[in-house]
Amino acid sequence: MAPQAKIGPSILNADLANLAAESQKLLDNGADYLHLDVMDGNFVPNLTFGHPMVKCLRNHIKNAYFETHMMVNSPEQWIEPMADAGVNLYTFHIEPVKDVCNVCRLVQESGMKVGLAIKPATKVEELARYMEVADVVLVMTVEPGFGGQSFMADMMPKVEWLRCNYPNIDIEVDGGVGPKTIECCAKSGANMIVSGTAVVGAPDQRQAITQMREVVQRYLK
Ligand code: DX5
Ligand code: ZN
Repeated sequence: MAPQAKIGPSILNADLANLAAESQKLLDNGADYLHLDVMDGNFVPNLTFGHPMVKCLRNHIKNAYFETHMMVNSPEQWIEPMADAGVNLYTFHIEPVKDVCNVCRLVQESGMKVGLAIKPATKVEELARYMEVADVVLVMTVEPGFGGQSFMADMMPKVEWLRCNYPNIDIEVDGGVGPKTIECCAKSGANMIVSGTAVVGAPDQRQAITQMREVVQRYLK
């Protein structure tokens, strides 16, 4: 199927003490999925939350599509608990992983879709050998670890290369994406858009989400 435009707010910079309410608000304002940033303090120099919190969130929000962005050194360790927590898409970084195909297989056997992510310094060709097994590829447009950083437009050739070689794959971008940088991402061929600060802090969340989706749709046609 041809890629669809989807906007997935990252709740990293939301009020995490009110995660369920903040998430529900984003969904009510038109979010297509939720992007949940999981960090282990090792792969990235920051900590967020893990599967117990995701499971609690799932208890409050039954139907939304959950992606966990696993910024961790051992993604294989969290597959079962995240599947049990009701995660739909399990996206992990290939950089620290020895046998990426094996982890992909374990994720899919647990019933989740699999996403493969690369940091800014990682060449996009590194993903090429895994395209057969990946459901989604994620091109980071900031150094992972923190929300609210500036968008790296020099990552766009990676997105262009992927869209050119794999016209039907879901390509996600993450980091510094918002109404001001969406055009650049859409033009390059991204169709799954993670947006944290720009959506969570927008005076009108619905308008920000709708506008970004329209720009992406325009370029997908
Ligand atoms: C960075 C995270 C991103 C990021 C998105 O490590 O993976 O999801 O927080 O937030 P903004 O859109 O504020 O960059
Ligand atoms: Zn993320």
